[in-house]
Amino acid sequence: MISETALPTPSSEELKLRVQELKRELNAVLLAHYYTLPEIQQVADVVGDSLALARSAEKTGADAIVFAGVWFMAETAKILNPEKLVLVPDRYAGCPLADSCPVDDFRDFRKRYPDAVAVSYINSSAEIKALSDIICTSSNAERIIRSIPADRQIIFGPDRNLGGYLIKKLGRDMVLWQGFCYVHEAFSEQYILEACRLHPEALLIAHPECRDEVLRHAAFTGSTQALLDFTVTSSAESFIVATEPGILFEMQRRSPGKTFIPAPKDRDNPRSVCKQMKQNTLDKLVLCMQNRAPEVTLPEDLRKAALQPIKKMLELSA
Ligand code: 13P
Ligand code: SF4
Repeated sequence: MISETALPTPSSEELKLRVQELKRELNAVLLAHYYTLPEIQQVADVVGDSLALARSAEKTGADAIVFAGVWFMAETAKILNPEKLVLVPDRYAGCPLADSCPVDDFRDFRKRYPDAVAVSYINSSAEIKALSDIICTSSNAERIIRSIPADRQIIFGPDRNLGGYLIKKLGRDMVLWQGFCYVHEAFSEQYILEACRLHPEALLIAHPECRDEVLRHAAFTGSTQALLDFTVTSSAESFIVATEPGILFEMQRRSPGKTFIPAPKDRDNPRSVCKQMKQNTLDKLVLCMQNRAPEVTLPEDLRKAALQPIKKMLELSA
């Protein structure tokens, strides 16, 4: 008979200490998106939205970048830092919105509008970025679109909701790729209005990846960072937050006296969660730093082609 000796499972405090040790060993910076789990945000050096994290990746003096987010974010960090080791806790934490835009279909889309400026949301693969003229995030999308001369046609992808929001806000016609983020698409007018009736004192705030039927009821619409800033500066005491609920951790930390209600997905699901962001766990974080893998690598010609539209975005939103 084989006797099994169970290895003790490290506690989350032990894992957090190990993350700090490994960061020092690798001279690494740990970047985490606001949608990751609270314990990941607690050990990160920078927690931010897509634009803030791309900027941190561009500026870091560390030798290695550990990216707790989704694949396209780590890929963007590698595009900006070819000489650095870029690690991810889970290779399979991809973004379904980015995956909804296959490169061959996008190439055909571009060919149909040969004179148009192609603006792509940062939630896209390196191949799509390489085929684009300029990248944007939800934080700088308005500024990027305004920078394009009025007589130029624009094609925009892959998020149709952000695209639709920009068309409405800026009065600028654009041809949209029909992709969406399943987390934000899940919010509906019916359940949002029900939440508003239940909490009449709360302000509805929403991310522009939500559908127009939700956005038209919002007191404020903005990127994850803009929503956070709004909750800090607003005189309101209570908010219904129509975006990924990971941001509630930082909202509550910054405004401990205020109330944050995650927008309901439907009657049975009080929140709409990004499963891929939650694939970043403390144990996987430790393993990726210990093993120096999974590592992000890219062919150099693809990296260089994808870098140009990212650089344009960073220059325009400096
Ligand atoms: P931001 O980080 O730009 O708010 O985008 C939200 C998102 O869905 C990231 O994947
Ligand atoms: Fe992609 Fe949506 Fe998840 Fe962001 S929240 S990573 S857009 S699926």
